[in-house]
Amino acid sequence: MIATVDFKITKAKTSKLASLDVNNIPFGKYFTDHMFEANYQNGEWQTGEIKPYQPIMIDPSCAAIHYGQSIFEGIKAYKNEEGEAYIFRPEDNFKRFNISAERMEMPEVPEEIFMEGLKQLVKLDQDWIPNKPDHSLYIRPFMFATDEAIGVKPGLKYKFIIILSPTGPYYSAPMRIYVEEKYVRAVHGGVGYTKNAGNYGASMYATAEAKRKGYDQVLWTDAVEHKYVQECGTMNVFFIIGNKAITPPLEDTILAGVTRDSVIQLIRDMGMEVEERPLSIDEIMEAYKKNELKELFGTGTAATISMIKELSYRDTVMIFDTDNWAIAPEIGRKMNAIKEGKTEDKYGWMVKI
Ligand code: COI
Repeated sequence: MIATVDFKITKAKTSKLASLDVNNIPFGKYFTDHMFEANYQNGEWQTGEIKPYQPIMIDPSCAAIHYGQSIFEGIKAYKNEEGEAYIFRPEDNFKRFNISAERMEMPEVPEEIFMEGLKQLVKLDQDWIPNKPDHSLYIRPFMFATDEAIGVKPGLKYKFIIILSPTGPYYSAPMRIYVEEKYVRAVHGGVGYTKNAGNYGASMYATAEAKRKGYDQVLWTDAVEHKYVQECGTMNVFFIIGNKAITPPLEDTILAGVTRDSVIQLIRDMGMEVEERPLSIDEIMEAYKKNELKELFGTGTAATISMIKELSYRDTVMIFDTDNWAIAPEIGRKMNAIKEGKTEDKYGWMVKI
């Protein structure tokens, strides 16, 4: 149990909520009335504050812009049928945030700042949680170096901020995926397992190339042989082959997705075996030819469960009839039922605020 922290709270004079059209909220476009901010300087974190959502002032020499010491998380808050607000597994994101911080030589954010900042902010802006299937309040904690100096070295000053964005589904339809063999996302010894901003910046060229060819996203392969699959765009990836679910293991090239972990637990509880192991594109092709590749889908906080209807590898286009799938839709339903408080949360995933 962490102590309640008395953050300074300055409320917005007026709310923007009335101008939000809940029938049209694309991912990451609208932000709530307030934000949380805490600053790190002289080797310690200063008390955080909640204030009206507003631009931040940074110097043109701001270290994060030049050298990329910038990390983030993605978490979601939901409302149950009684209108009570819950956050999905925020402790797991908190831990992962500090794993990213360590790898990027940034200070850890203390639990009372991260968790209490998040809970108090969501509580204040809870009216912004959309009450609609597949909708939620996306929570974006992030931290970046703010030193005003362009020498290449770890920052001495950092900002930790949390913003909130009401959102609908990230990918609204089953996806077309291109197996990437030229560009890479992550190498052993690198930063693939972190949520540092550069991972996303580095992915954009390959993703844009795939989009120019008519695909929605890429499926990354390993950097050495381009033989083993890693992740899919902004998601972890699962393959149902025969009567097993297979997903790449958590090595330093793979983001330890909180949704990935939840899906593994749900699949196991549905009585299906889950293997976390290297999976080659040859094995995927072989399974497809034998009609044993039943379903494939991505998982992520933003993406939730996103079905893949087409996987393109060299000259082979693997096509799937997602309308007749059983497992991915069932996992999606089970996950939503827990998030929306319609079923017992036996895993203890939902944190009440
Ligand atoms: C998430 O799923 O929360 C992500 O961070 C993916 C993406 C929107 C960057």
